[in-house]
Amino acid sequence: MSSTRRVAVLPGDGVGPEVTRAAVLVLEAAAEVFDLRIRPEEHPVGWAAVQADEDPLPASTLAACTDADAVFLGAVGHPDAVGVSPEKRPEAGLLRLRTELRCYTNLRPLRLPDTLIGVSPLREERIRGVDLVIVRELAGGLYYGTPRGVETREGERSAHNTLRYGASEIRRVARAAFRLAEGRGRRLLSVDKSNVLETSRLWREVVEEVALEHPTVALEHMLIDRAALELVLRPNTFDVILTENLFGDILSDEVAGVAGSLGLLPSASLGDGTPLFEPVHGSAPALAGEGTANPVGAILSMAMLLEHALDAPEAARAVGRAVEECFASGLRTADLAGPGEKVVGTDAFAKAAVQIIATEG
Ligand code: IPM
Ligand code: MG
Repeated sequence: MSSTRRVAVLPGDGVGPEVTRAAVLVLEAAAEVFDLRIRPEEHPVGWAAVQADEDPLPASTLAACTDADAVFLGAVGHPDAVGVSPEKRPEAGLLRLRTELRCYTNLRPLRLPDTLIGVSPLREERIRGVDLVIVRELAGGLYYGTPRGVETREGERSAHNTLRYGASEIRRVARAAFRLAEGRGRRLLSVDKSNVLETSRLWREVVEEVALEHPTVALEHMLIDRAALELVLRPNTFDVILTENLFGDILSDEVAGVAGSLGLLPSASLGDGTPLFEPVHGSAPALAGEGTANPVGAILSMAMLLEHALDAPEAARAVGRAVEECFASGLRTADLAGPGEKVVGTDAFAKAAVQIIATEG
């Protein structure tokens, strides 16, 4: 029996609490079957925390996350937050959490089981067998660069952000991407805008240097606009895609669109502190409270948590298999269902996955 591992659970806003509940059920089932001792503890984040505490990342939540073995976050974001001061925006809480936890490598994998091919808007031959990972730099770039701000210049409203990358920031995430590629198909595509941006030219140079340390991985470079095109035309030819923060944000939603639903994608954010796991979808306020949100992004994020934070790769694989079996048995949440297909809610999907995991015991 292993020692008790602490998992800080931050349900957040919108559909966050629903998908988090589903994912925690699955985590607990996996812990039971694989004999892991875990202690999930809930803490407020995002708009929910602003309401209670005037702060989207209260000090008590941050302290709990720093002390934990892993953090799971549902979603942040709320329509009422538009127009509040920048530091009170729910997203600001998440961005601060990522920096405080020193998470700089964000993994966003997509594998589409054959049973879900029909969900994709693409023709079968383009999507079949897709198995890629976006490695998104998470701690730098436009999201964090200073100076930033709004001002009045020559009588006109004006705003500015700074895109800056240091070589060491590029090197550490590139190393993580190459190591990942070594354990997969050994192909790495680095995406930039080096025909225009100095930061991208530095990006390319540093990635080339890191490539020398990983001679078995085939490295290619591609401009971001071309990569956006190729991801729609030939998604099943990609392996590991390495890119900077903003490009990674955009490409990961594109990848979700190519799969057919944003609800499917999990993520892991790794670095020098407590790792953070969150579904890629946002708070989806229009769906909140309906019990219809797709919990798969959240459940697969728990699988990543089991693998990367709790050293439980077998349990992680069992969760992945359970999700695939749910799909194979025809379970579809509303975002995945085709005409005439029966729709299940968030909880029903999670309970089905729990039952499958329990039979592994
Ligand atoms: C994501 C989200 C976040 C981001 C938002 C909520 C700040 O879009 O994780 O992709 O831009 O990183
Ligand atoms: Mg995003």
